[in-house]
Amino acid sequence: MVAPGRGILAADESTGTIKKRFDAIGVENTEDNRRDYRELMFRASDAMKYVSGVILFEETLFQKAADGTPLVDIITAAGSIPGIKVDKGASKMAGFPNETVTKGLDGLSKRLRSYYEQGARFAKWRAVIDIADGIPTWTCVKSNAHALARYARICQQEQIVPIVEPEVLMDGNHDAARCDEVTRWVLQTVFNELAEQRVALEGVVLKPNMVVSGKGSVRQASIDEVAERTIAALKATVPSAVPGIAYLSGGQSDELATAHLSRMNEIGGFPWKMTFSYGRALQAAPQKAWSGKKENTAAAQRAFLHRARMNGLASQGQWNEKLEKQAA
Ligand code: 13P
Repeated sequence: MVAPGRGILAADESTGTIKKRFDAIGVENTEDNRRDYRELMFRASDAMKYVSGVILFEETLFQKAADGTPLVDIITAAGSIPGIKVDKGASKMAGFPNETVTKGLDGLSKRLRSYYEQGARFAKWRAVIDIADGIPTWTCVKSNAHALARYARICQQEQIVPIVEPEVLMDGNHDAARCDEVTRWVLQTVFNELAEQRVALEGVVLKPNMVVSGKGSVRQASIDEVAERTIAALKATVPSAVPGIAYLSGGQSDELATAHLSRMNEIGGFPWKMTFSYGRALQAAPQKAWSGKKENTAAAQRAFLHRARMNGLASQGQWNEKLEKQAA
């Protein structure tokens, strides 16, 4: 999952989330359109060279391509590992206004067994932590960390590698220092819970946010500041037994998500592999190129290849602006 030069494609948008992406390109959110769009990525074998694993939504794990081939077989044939989003989304946290806790633990073992049979070898659970006045609260951080750890332990029981994703959102006006503080607090709490729940850290992939400024902040941290803060925050909180870190993009622009990852790998000096597990930052360009039209398939695959390649380079600290422009 964190092999050199490769990273993870997060194509696990729920039916509601993919609707937002499709609305933006004027595509109707039907099962066939969701399949056609995802199939074109999985069949882009040049791009898939940079994709070690694909996180799928449950529908896709059981879906067949237009010619009847299971989509998981196409992913596997491309040399990539199928994975599955298993949480049931962030739901309002009773008693804690404007905060959420992620649900989905009920019946998880049983679901994991059927996902394994279908070819999934890793899973993802996303906890969401928002920053605003008075939040996050300790109870929200603790409840989400606890659920993440229970999920991770259940996955390991079922021979599935858990991706542990505590996402501190970049929505808001806070600066990078506040994101830094909350990210450290969240990671510290998550690793305490993982230890308490007897999770083997050697078999976990962490999917954190980078330490960035809030979208509405008047001062946006530079690429160097983001890279340095992120490395320092992780060094202070993430045990070295964890083999790999695969960042979410979280609403960063495509190019910044790539630049930040590359800069971190250039700086180096940490014990983990650092790569990408991007949703939007890998797919925005191909989605736009595709726009729901069959005749745009090749253009969409080229756009996907470009982003996958740029991020593959970034995972080795070898991306630069010249390469970004050249191949585009
Ligand atoms: P983004 O890269 O768009 O944040 O998505 C990654 C993901 O899987 C969020 O759960």
